[in-house]
Amino acid sequence: MRICITGNLGYIGPCVIQHLRAANPDATLVGIDTGYFAGCLLDPLHYPESVPDVQYYADVRTLPEEMFAGVDAVVHLAALSNDPLGSRFAEATGEINHLATVEVAKKARQAGVRSFVFASSCSVYGLAGTMARTEESEVNPLTAYAKSKVHAEIDLAELATDDFVVTCLRFATACGASPRLRLDLVINDFVASAVAVGQIRILSDGTPWRPLIAVRDMARAIEWAALHRTAGEGGACLVLNAGSDSWNWQVRDLAAAVAEAIPGTQISINSDAPPDSRSYRVDFGLFRSLAPGFQPQSTLMGTIAELKLVLERAKFSDTNFRQSRLVRLHVLSSLTEDGLLDVGKPGPIRYPLTATDSQSRGAALDPQEVLSVPARA
Ligand SMILES: NC(=O)c1ccc[n+]([C@@H]2O[C@H](COP(=O)([O-])OP(=O)(O)OC[C@H]3O[C@@H](n4cnc5c(N)ncnc54)[C@H](O)[C@@H]3O)[C@@H](O)[C@H]2O)c1
Repeated sequence: MRICITGNLGYIGPCVIQHLRAANPDATLVGIDTGYFAGCLLDPLHYPESVPDVQYYADVRTLPEEMFAGVDAVVHLAALSNDPLGSRFAEATGEINHLATVEVAKKARQAGVRSFVFASSCSVYGLAGTMARTEESEVNPLTAYAKSKVHAEIDLAELATDDFVVTCLRFATACGASPRLRLDLVINDFVASAVAVGQIRILSDGTPWRPLIAVRDMARAIEWAALHRTAGEGGACLVLNAGSDSWNWQVRDLAAAVAEAIPGTQISINSDAPPDSRSYRVDFGLFRSLAPGFQPQSTLMGTIAELKLVLERAKFSDTNFRQSRLVRLHVLSSLTEDGLLDVGKPGPIRYPLTATDSQSRGAALDPQEVLSVPARA
């Protein structure tokens, strides 16, 4: 079995690859990523790319169809992956998250891939009140990021057949430890803040709802969708909320849980904040009924404890972490401002060796070039 995972050098990707390796020791795992965040490891001694068999440093906007020859399943994670990035890089967000997703799926289908998993997002529901949203609920995408996910879902539905089964997993907000930890996610931010500063500042009044899912539980859902689901379970194209009902949390409860796990943490709430436009609850009943063996297993306190552990092991103490390599907007903005990256131009990131290389890199390197590095014998 050969499985392609795009966007594998991000936050969720390394956990998905680890999970798929454990679930299928003999599968050939192929990673495809521009490497925008390749250097953003929490602990440089823990290098996750020893797990895939092959790593391509390539852009999903310009992949050759041959990339998918002999591939059984594609897990498509590659994206500009949050609202702040969508707002700063709106055009590229549409090109990568929507248009390139559809092109990747077309090439995969043409090459005979059987199963295509798209990492969509519960943020498609936007401001949705306290009624839990089901897959039948109207979507209300408020941001470029959420809109890109809705547009991709719509176009992917057109491509699905019984021989090319498409699953759009509308994931809740991710949380938990990963070799490429992100601190721009609510629980991860709270734990980092508690560890480094001893304080959590809630920017809202604390009442907004956030459905969460632990990264390791995302990997379980992806395994089900990529390797086990057939068109008989949910149809050739299935759009599915991925998470669990008991993980719809109010932000103030999340802060309280972190403070309980890390004694001495102070919580401040902004009671004058305007209403948060991203408050929503989600119903995960369909996921429960279709994939009973692949339901989330993590606990909130266990997830917080693991985050605290990995941060402490990495001797994390950065009080200014929102301006660090662990925050996506900061990373892509810095690379852009330093002239090292133009997300509007397809191609893998190239780190220059010297300042002179930096000036000449545009001329010297072919952005369409695809490099492959055999990662495992
Ligand atoms: N993190 C969450 O809370 C969350 C929730 C719901 C859905 N998702 C979705 O899951 C997927 C993975 O999320 P993540 O948190 O790991 O994001 P991430 O930003 O950490 O990783 C995304 C990866 O995609 C790569 N990438 C971006 N543009 C690319 C391109 N043009 N070609 C090839 N690779 C490219 C980046 O280099 C990065 O390694 C995304 O599609 C995201 O929208 C994430």
